[in-house]
Amino acid sequence: NNYVLIMAGGVGSRFWPKSRNHFPKQFLDILGTGKSLLQITYNRFLKICPADHIFIVTNSQYNDIILDQLKGISPDQLICEPSRNNTAPCIAYASFKLAALNPDANLIVAPSDHFILFEDIFIERLLFALAYTNKHEALVTLGISPVRPDTGYGYIQYGKETEEGIYKVEQFREKPSLQKAQEYLSDGNYLWNAGIFIWKASAIISALKKYTPDIYRLFESGREYYNTPEEQAFIDENYSRSPNISIDYAIMEQADNIYTIPANFGWSDLGTWASLHETADKDSENNVVAARQINLKDTQNSIIHINTNKLAVIRGLDNFIVVDDGNALLIYPKDQEQEIKEVVKQMSESY
Ligand code: GDD
Ligand code: MG
Repeated sequence: NNYVLIMAGGVGSRFWPKSRNHFPKQFLDILGTGKSLLQITYNRFLKICPADHIFIVTNSQYNDIILDQLKGISPDQLICEPSRNNTAPCIAYASFKLAALNPDANLIVAPSDHFILFEDIFIERLLFALAYTNKHEALVTLGISPVRPDTGYGYIQYGKETEEGIYKVEQFREKPSLQKAQEYLSDGNYLWNAGIFIWKASAIISALKKYTPDIYRLFESGREYYNTPEEQAFIDENYSRSPNISIDYAIMEQADNIYTIPANFGWSDLGTWASLHETADKDSENNVVAARQINLKDTQNSIIHINTNKLAVIRGLDNFIVVDDGNALLIYPKDQEQEIKEVVKQMSESY
């Protein structure tokens, strides 16, 4: 009864301009391995369950890219959203659909765009989590020891160890202010939310019913259509009426049956340019450089991606992001990179 649901419908706007609306970062070979982040993620989950138990939930505009990149999956394993309403409705829809397929479905819900160094530990912790949620009506999230007051993550305040390796969550705070993040870091009893959730479909559906009744009712009303030829028509007509909210705000900050499994498997959210800077190979001046022709001096702690044939000459930068990608050029202070998401939002869709 174990399933994996990979969320691959984000636009990765903090990775602009390499990540674009029509071809977001999860479909790109960001790590330079010859595989896209989605392909790496999918291959990793093949160690958890058979290929036909892995589902991908995404915006319908990306269906063709996914079928092209993941040769092992069939169109039935694509769950298609007609509009972008963030992760709460995405998870709600997929959970109703999987529960209709198997009322006992036990799921891992995972992003498609993370870097994981120690796969063995990762797999072992997930199997452990699945065994737990199989027996308890718990919403489990993997927790990572925080190393900086990053404001792009959810923070998990953990309490008692209720069973070996499983801690009750006292409080969950999504994307806190810098000041709060600093407090959490110095408190010492907080973990970062890895954004990887483990729960029974029935458990998350109960939580949706309690904490986001609008979303619950919307998808509940389609119960008779899931996994039938009428499903897509029902979704196309109703999906966009859902509130636009992430699962972190909708459920994780509200529910009282949240548990965390602290796990350190060399995790990095490849959410931003600085996160790529952290995981990638650096030169002696702590720069990450990918360019065909570059003349670089007197520059430190920067990330430079010149994805064109231009010769780039760069001097005197410290802690900057420079990305040249065809019709767009980004030059931004690395420590203000969280703003890029807003900047991209304000630009037209075509960028
Ligand atoms: N299908 C679908 N539909 N997928 C989506 C949608 C959507 O509308 N929106 C986002 N996703 C996918 C993204 O592609 C990504 O794989 C995952 O859902 C999480 O979305 P992000 O937009 O990357 O979230 P975040 O990074 O800001 O925050 C989440 O992840 C952090 C760790 O990486 C939260 O869960 C944080 O609490 C967490 O710390
Ligand atoms: Mg993310």
